[in-house]
Amino acid sequence: MRKIDIFDTTLRDGEQSAGINLNTAEKIEIAKQLERLGVTIIEAGFPASSPGDFDAVNRIAGTVKNSIVTGLARCVQKDIDTTWEAIKVAEQPHIHIFLATSPIHMEYKLKKSPDQVVEQAVEAVKYAKKFFSLVQWSAEDAFRSDRDFLVRIMNEVVAAGATTINVPDTVGYASPQEYGALFKFLLENVKGADKVKFSAHCHDDLGMATANTIAAIENGASQVEGTINGIGERAGNVALEEIAVALHIRKDIYHVETGIHLQEIKRTSQLVSKLTNVVIQPNKAIVGKNAFAHESGIHQDGVLKNPETYEIISPALIGEGEVPLVLGKHSGRAAFRDRAETMGFNLSDEKLNKAFTEF
Ligand code: KIV
Ligand code: ZN
Repeated sequence: MRKIDIFDTTLRDGEQSAGINLNTAEKIEIAKQLERLGVTIIEAGFPASSPGDFDAVNRIAGTVKNSIVTGLARCVQKDIDTTWEAIKVAEQPHIHIFLATSPIHMEYKLKKSPDQVVEQAVEAVKYAKKFFSLVQWSAEDAFRSDRDFLVRIMNEVVAAGATTINVPDTVGYASPQEYGALFKFLLENVKGADKVKFSAHCHDDLGMATANTIAAIENGASQVEGTINGIGERAGNVALEEIAVALHIRKDIYHVETGIHLQEIKRTSQLVSKLTNVVIQPNKAIVGKNAFAHESGIHQDGVLKNPETYEIISPALIGEGEVPLVLGKHSGRAAFRDRAETMGFNLSDEKLNKAFTEF
C-alpha cells in the first residue's frame, strides 16, 4: 500500500480560527497527543509571528520525537532565521515556507510581478536549505493560480532544493474533479516531481475539503494537510480524522495507508475541543456525539441483530466507548427491550408491551 504522510496543522492553521487562543502548555499537550495519534508532521506554529509562537514551536520541537516538527515562515530571511532558532533542537528540522502565486494575490497583496515572485521563492528555498534538510514550499492560493506559472515556479523551487511542494486550495474554491486534475497535471509537468512529495491543503468554504483531499490522493498526492475537528481559518481546514478513517474504511478502493493510530482519534478530538473551546457539531462525521447514535426503531432493530446493518465504522475503531441506543420518540420495541434487559429487567411480553406503551 502507498504511504500518505499526514501533516497536522491544528496548532498553526487551526489556531488561526476566530476565537482560538492556546497557551504554550496547551499546545504542548496537543502536540504530544498528535504524536500518539501518529501524524507524520506537526506544524507547531509560525515562530516569526510572535514570541509566544516562537516559544511554543521551540518547546514542541524539543519534546516531540516520533513526529517531524515544522514551523511556518514567509519567504524572507528573517522568518527563516527565526524558524531555524526555534526548530534546530528537533530530531529532523523541517521548515514550511510559503509565497502566493495567484494573480490576485501577486498583484494586490504582494504587489509583485510573477518574475519577482519566482525570484523571491527561489532565494528563500536556497537560503532555507543552508539550515534545513527538509524544506516544504507552498504556493499560496495555488488552486487559483495560472497552471503554467505553477509549473514554472515549481520547477525552480524543486531545482533550488525544496523537498515538498504544497498545492493549497487556500480559499476552498476547488471541486474534487478540478483539484485532482491539478495534481495530475503538476505531477506530469513539474521537472523532478517524482523526487519530491506533493501535498494537498484544502479549506472547507464550500464543504468540499474532504472530497478534494481524497481526489488529490487519487491523483498522486503523497502528503495531506489538515486539522483535528477541521478547525481553521473561516470554514476551517479538512478534518484529518475524516481522511484517516475514510482511507481506512475504503482501503479497498484507495489502497493507501497513513500510519495513524485510529484508536487515538476520539481522545485527540476531545482534547482539541476542550482546549480550544470549539464545540464539535453533534452530527460531525467520525467524532460528533451522534456519529454512532441510532434513534429510529428500524435502525435500532437492525443494529441489535447485526451492527453492520447500519454501521460502516465501529465506534471501537476510533477509540469511542460503547454507544447506547438512543431511546426517543422514534425508538422501537427492540431497543426498549434491550435497554430493559441491560438494566436487569427480564420482562414478559405482556409487561414489556405495557411498559413500552407507558414509555
Ligand atoms: O491555506 C494556505 O494557503 C495556507 C498556507 C500558509 C500554506 O495555510
Ligand atoms: Zn491553510
